[in-house]
Amino acid sequence: MSNFNEERVLSVHHWTDTLFSFRTTRDPSFRFRNGEFTMIGLKGEGKPLLRAYSVVSANYEDELEFFSIKVANGPLTSKLQHLKVGDPIVVSRKATGTLVLDNLLPGRHLYLLGTGTGLAPFLSIIKDPETYDRFEKVVLVHGCRHIQELAYGETITETLPNHELIGELVRDQLVYYPTVTREPFRNRGRITDLITSGKLFADIGLPEMAIDADRFMLCGSPEMIRDTRDLLASRDYVEGNHGEAGHYVIEKAFVEK
Ligand code: A2P
Repeated sequence: MSNFNEERVLSVHHWTDTLFSFRTTRDPSFRFRNGEFTMIGLKGEGKPLLRAYSVVSANYEDELEFFSIKVANGPLTSKLQHLKVGDPIVVSRKATGTLVLDNLLPGRHLYLLGTGTGLAPFLSIIKDPETYDRFEKVVLVHGCRHIQELAYGETITETLPNHELIGELVRDQLVYYPTVTREPFRNRGRITDLITSGKLFADIGLPEMAIDADRFMLCGSPEMIRDTRDLLASRDYVEGNHGEAGHYVIEKAFVEK
């Protein structure tokens, strides 16, 4: 049996010149935990060209959704960005990843810190009722250079609060904090600086960081991951993984170079 399912593209949405997302059919046998990634790609001659993509959709949804950057010379994304409805796409039968609730110790507040396409796994996590069961408040921080890149803002503020399964949980427990670094906006600055200065906590009305209360998931560029991890480690937060739950977990955003 092949390790891949062949799916079909159902819709494509271009956010900017460099960001797009698309939805595909989902083979009912494909199982994943919210926050995980899988390999997707296009069949060519020979082996399919594959890259890791976090699943944006929640594991109870009938369709799969992915959020991607467009890289002009990227082996996969230069082709993927031209996807049309009805096109075939291969999706691995397996999913994996560290950004899952079970890898975190219990806590009161869950901070989901994502930059760029690092937002993707968190969209799945904020649609999971279990997330709201485990944490009193779920804070989604999305950092980008420009306002235009704050993809899914309307989904988070308009669609999810009215979602039939999780709408009420989202309305009561989700805090969305978009921030940009390179133009004026209501929230400005790098995620690391917003944490260090305490501005993030002051703006959302939650207490300053405390190791017994706060848990973190990080997804972004290697630099963002490094600096945020250093910040957490300097305050004695311990990284979690599949073997052992911790105060925070990390995943590099999968960006094709
Ligand atoms: P900045 O504009 O100051 O570089 P990128 O597109 O380069 O991945 O950046 C996405 C967002 O992440 C930008 O707002 C960027 O801010 C920010 N960023 C880049 N490097 C870091 C870092 N080391 N720590 C925190 N945020 C970062």
